Amino acid sequence: MEHEKYYMTTAIAYTSGKPHIGNTYEIILADAIARFKRKEGYDVFFQTGTDEHGQKIENKAIALGITPKELVDDMAAQVKAIWDGMNTSYDKFVRTTDEYHEKQVQKIFKKLYEQGDIYKGAYEGMYCTACESFFTQAQLTEGQCPDCDGEVNAAKEEAYFFRMSKYADRLIEHINTHPKFIQPISRKNEMMNNFLLPGLQDLCVSRTSFKWGIPVDFDPEHVIYVWLDALTNYITGIGYDCDGNHSTLYKKDWPADLHLVGKDIIRFHTLYWPIFLMALDIPLPRQIFGHPWLLQGSGKMSKSKGNVLYADDLAELFSVDSIRYFVLHEMPFDNDGVISLELIVERINSDLANTLGNLVNRTISMSNKYFDGVVNNSGMAEAIDEELRKAVLEAVARVSAKMENFRVADAITEIFALFKRCNKYIDETTPWILAKKERTLGRLETVLYNLVESICIGASLLSSFMPETSDKILKQLNAKERDIAKLAEFGMYTSGTKVTDTPEILFARLDIKEVLEKDKARKEAAGIKGGECESSTIKETVKEEPVIDMEAKEEITYDDFMKMQFQVGEIISCEEVKKSKKLLVSQVKIGSQTKQIVSGIKANYAAEEMVGKKVMVLVNLRPAKLAGVVSEGMLLCAENADGNMGLMVPEKAMPSGAEIC
Ligand code: MSP
Repeated sequence: MEHEKYYMTTAIAYTSGKPHIGNTYEIILADAIARFKRKEGYDVFFQTGTDEHGQKIENKAIALGITPKELVDDMAAQVKAIWDGMNTSYDKFVRTTDEYHEKQVQKIFKKLYEQGDIYKGAYEGMYCTACESFFTQAQLTEGQCPDCDGEVNAAKEEAYFFRMSKYADRLIEHINTHPKFIQPISRKNEMMNNFLLPGLQDLCVSRTSFKWGIPVDFDPEHVIYVWLDALTNYITGIGYDCDGNHSTLYKKDWPADLHLVGKDIIRFHTLYWPIFLMALDIPLPRQIFGHPWLLQGSGKMSKSKGNVLYADDLAELFSVDSIRYFVLHEMPFDNDGVISLELIVERINSDLANTLGNLVNRTISMSNKYFDGVVNNSGMAEAIDEELRKAVLEAVARVSAKMENFRVADAITEIFALFKRCNKYIDETTPWILAKKERTLGRLETVLYNLVESICIGASLLSSFMPETSDKILKQLNAKERDIAKLAEFGMYTSGTKVTDTPEILFARLDIKEVLEKDKARKEAAGIKGGECESSTIKETVKEEPVIDMEAKEEITYDDFMKMQFQVGEIISCEEVKKSKKLLVSQVKIGSQTKQIVSGIKANYAAEEMVGKKVMVLVNLRPAKLAGVVSEGMLLCAENADGNMGLMVPEKAMPSGAEIC
């Protein structure tokens, strides 16, 4: 029988750093969808890979004293190792440095140029000479280069552009007539209202300021700028040929059924990518799904904050399936999700150890205790069994419906509701009481049979999300995984089968303190701060000064800034705040007045060391009490990744009261 094809892709990961759990979430999500589709009978082709060109990679390779190719080879291997480690079942791993891809990208560029969709113009922006990079005004940090804080100047660079406006109306029409094209629907509205309806800008598709890219073959000073290169992986990876000699796979699988990408790059996938395809006269993908982001409790993951979590470390601390379960279950459909070691432990204890682990373990233990492990359906049914049967079969239908709309977290919740229903069935039927009397042993057999059958169905459903766990459960029950089509019936478990007599604990309950200690020991052993781990080939040779990236705050106006009064102050006395481990209280002379200011810097400064320092003070902060002591302003400090504070002091001698502006 021929199966319907299903071609799906993830975004291809940048090779500028090891992917964190946020990037890894996407491949796990895609894997769950791919496995479920296969279970439904689709002929799935699942593609992922790495995005390996661009200035960032070139700069990083230079800093590390290696070639960009050496860097991306190493990083691509790391990405692949993580994807494999998380048990993801992709069929193809594309690299944008693969020769076939580079060749096709060059041909595509030339074709688009020759047909007038790409034209030569000039790229204008703010240029940082030190970083050899262009930035838009919005990307600058206080008018300076966001990477090195250096000076930037308005500059122009010759570049090729893609004429987006030519195809905009066709795209609007397509989006309006294909309601499933952009999902979730909120993303569609965002694209329409913010980009398409106001008018699409032409897109810069080449650069001359760096070399690490695919050269434009008819104008080799230029390299093809990343998005045209990166997006085309979706067709080159399955054998598209610009001259029309496509592979059988391409002919079968294109158009893609699903591009799964993060919310930040939905614009490139729903606007630029379809337009490139229209220009190449290639059918558009059926659906682009923009998933939300996984964040750390305290905000965005950042290496300098030391709060980056990596899938391989997490899998070592917990297990691959615990992490798959956590990220898939915790991520809401439309909003960002949160991850932390504490939250993972909570989930493991309540869902995996209590609900699932206990159910499987109790059922197998009872089968062994009462019937030497043999599970028989003695046919002694009661009304309550029908309730269980109904709940289990309904769960199958509900999981399928949720998966149809990529509501993966909800699908998993349905499966766990099934396991909870089984636990309730144990409480309702009280097997330990049935075991006491000879005449209720037949009923006990049926109860255990119903439990084993329900667990088999639950475990079969679970296989797309937690493949190893599903496999372990089914092996212990001596049963085979069932496809979706075979899950419509209750009672397929072969009566008389013997379950294992050595049930394995699937998930042990965890103690958060022990987990945190284990994590600390792991980091110390690896000689890393905050879990950072760079390219393995270069780790020993580089001594880059650590930098700190902060999540951008909301933009403020000049007027907002002018509301704050900063002045130089001189600390004339300072003492520790009693009853506080962190606070010092200083008397600070600002002009002719003296203010009392409390600061959380006791860990970094002795009180006596503070006296005589000229410091920067936010003067007009509303007074507040800290540990019962009034504070009438704030001493400005910088904080490093370890939480160590350094007072901000004027670079030149300045009188007390001088305005900081
Ligand atoms: N290279 C581009 C994609 C090109 S696709 C033709 C890119 N790479 S990335 O490495 O930065 O991101 C890869 C994927 O991970 C993107 O879909 C991105 O949205 C996603 N995520 C990055 N951080 C994430 C979280 N914190 N949480 C969930 N997904 C995250 O963008």
